[in-house]
Amino acid sequence: MIRKRLEFFFTKDFITQMKVFLKQISHYREIISFSLLLSIIANALGLIPALISGQIVDGYLSGRELANSPQIEKEILLWAGALFLAYVLSEVLNIIQNQVQLRFRTSFNHSLQDKLYKHVLHLPINFFNKTKSGELLSRFTNDINQITGLSNQLILTPINALLRLSVILAYCFYLSPWIALLILLIIGTLTILCMFLTKKTRPLQNEIYDKQAVIHGFLSEVFQGIRTVRSHAKEAEEISQHSQRHLDLNDTRLKSNLQIQGIYTLWSFMQAIAAALMLAGGSIMIIRGHMSLGELVVVQFFTAQLMNPIFNILSSISSTQGGLACLERYHKILSEELDNPPDSNRKKLDKCIEKIKIVNLNFSYLPDKPVLENISFTMQKGKTYALVGTSGSGKSTLADLICGFQKASIGNILINGIELQELNKENYIQHLAIVHQANFVFDGTIRDNILYGNTELTSSDLIELCQKAQLHDFIDSLELGLDSYIGENGIKLSGGQKQRLCLARAFAAKADLIILDEATSHLDSINERLIQKAVFENKNDLITLIIAHNLSTIKDVDQVIVLEKGEIKEIGTHEGLMKLRGLYFNMLKS
Ligand SMILES: Nc1ncnc2c1ncn2[C@@H]1O[C@H](COP(=O)(O)OP(=O)(O)OP(=O)(O)O)[C@@H](O)[C@H]1O
Ligand SMILES: [Mg+2]
Repeated sequence: MIRKRLEFFFTKDFITQMKVFLKQISHYREIISFSLLLSIIANALGLIPALISGQIVDGYLSGRELANSPQIEKEILLWAGALFLAYVLSEVLNIIQNQVQLRFRTSFNHSLQDKLYKHVLHLPINFFNKTKSGELLSRFTNDINQITGLSNQLILTPINALLRLSVILAYCFYLSPWIALLILLIIGTLTILCMFLTKKTRPLQNEIYDKQAVIHGFLSEVFQGIRTVRSHAKEAEEISQHSQRHLDLNDTRLKSNLQIQGIYTLWSFMQAIAAALMLAGGSIMIIRGHMSLGELVVVQFFTAQLMNPIFNILSSISSTQGGLACLERYHKILSEELDNPPDSNRKKLDKCIEKIKIVNLNFSYLPDKPVLENISFTMQKGKTYALVGTSGSGKSTLADLICGFQKASIGNILINGIELQELNKENYIQHLAIVHQANFVFDGTIRDNILYGNTELTSSDLIELCQKAQLHDFIDSLELGLDSYIGENGIKLSGGQKQRLCLARAFAAKADLIILDEATSHLDSINERLIQKAVFENKNDLITLIIAHNLSTIKDVDQVIVLEKGEIKEIGTHEGLMKLRGLYFNMLKS
């Protein structure tokens, strides 16, 4: 086991990962150097009590006749005072060093979080298809915490521990086993005392865990609703809210650390008093003939923390490996390619979408498994379109491609004659309103959810939208109306109510292209008809694309596109396709 661990430290992997990590923390070299300097000074101060003890032993207690005079007792008391001061100063420096270190860790953690979140929110939808959201969450929590801890494990802890250990080893050289046993007994008692006191700090620690859980909750929600976030171009807002929650958590961490430091101060104070008392009392007792010189040396070791350095080195060795593995996983996500990175220099649409031309489009999720082949058709402003076909024929995939959520393998989508991939993503999304087949609502009120589509809506706009989406009767029946909470992903709503809420949110966005993917599939026929009427009300101002299995709902569209196994088999008006007596005709009849 030990050999294995040692081998790990000399592998190429370790050196490469160390380099990556050192590069990552290079922005913080000032604060790390300061922290290291503080801890070296604190450790050096920790040596002074031993030197003072030696001074007392050599100067007063050996090599000559012991003189029992008040003057000598006074001098010894002065030495004891100096010892006490050295301890206190060393501990004060330790506290400052700890706070400096925590500031570095929280700020390093914050920057790791922001960088990863910004990257992940812009990753292709495919990334979320292949990555479990829980796994992704642990990258943000456990992994980043471990990476942050690496600075301690790789730099601060080993240097500190080695300094202390070398001093302790020098002492041990002169120690007998019996005294060592006594020291262990003292350290054990102090450890139990420390464990008891740290129990008191639990409430603030729990607050930290609660806040972390809240952050996980929000992250999980956003990842599950990534399409909705994308559809409303809310990435920047989500990133800034996440950042804010983290600042709040960092505040609690700092408070909790102060509390823990308070306990350590108390402990150290007690140790300092005990050491000073024992030194003074012990020396006086030697002079009076009640104690031996060897016993005085034992007194010196009362406050020496023998276990800490060994424990720190051991724990840092085991956690370093975990930390480096986390670092590797973190960078793996950052190396995931953005298919259409946010770029403000890309072309923006200077007018509303008037024409969408799809030219020979091919797409596959997996190599050699085409999902869409040779898709070509054109959509124009003022016209309504329906995409029909058997389940799995590629309708939702085509909608994703039109929205820019997926990238075509071959072929083009031209928006007003401009290639979709050349357009500014945020700008393009603002021209769309989408109700996805796997619809998603946020844990909040009905009002919050509709406003997500357009934050500038007034109360009367909201009422109008709810009427358009046939949601008004349901809202009137609720005690809190628009301010009713709907639970995580609308758990408190029926399937139809949730669909209507998504429709209201889509209507809220003033879009040029509206895509409804099975958006009314959970509704009764009366509501479905009323919503259809509402959708078609403004049809002259936009392009409407409806994906539906219930073919009776799309009879009035201008053009029906029939997909089968990823290919367009028929295209035309309802009447035209009925006359053709082909696939569409059979689908309708069956
Ligand atoms: N993320 C994915 N990874 C791999 N294959 C996928 C993925 N999403 C969909 N597919 C596959 O692509 C094909 C088309 O799926 P799509 O969801 O576009 O069909 P659809 O026409 O919308 O079906 P439905 O009417 O049931 O909604 C299906 O065979 C499906 O299994
Ligand atoms: Mg679908």
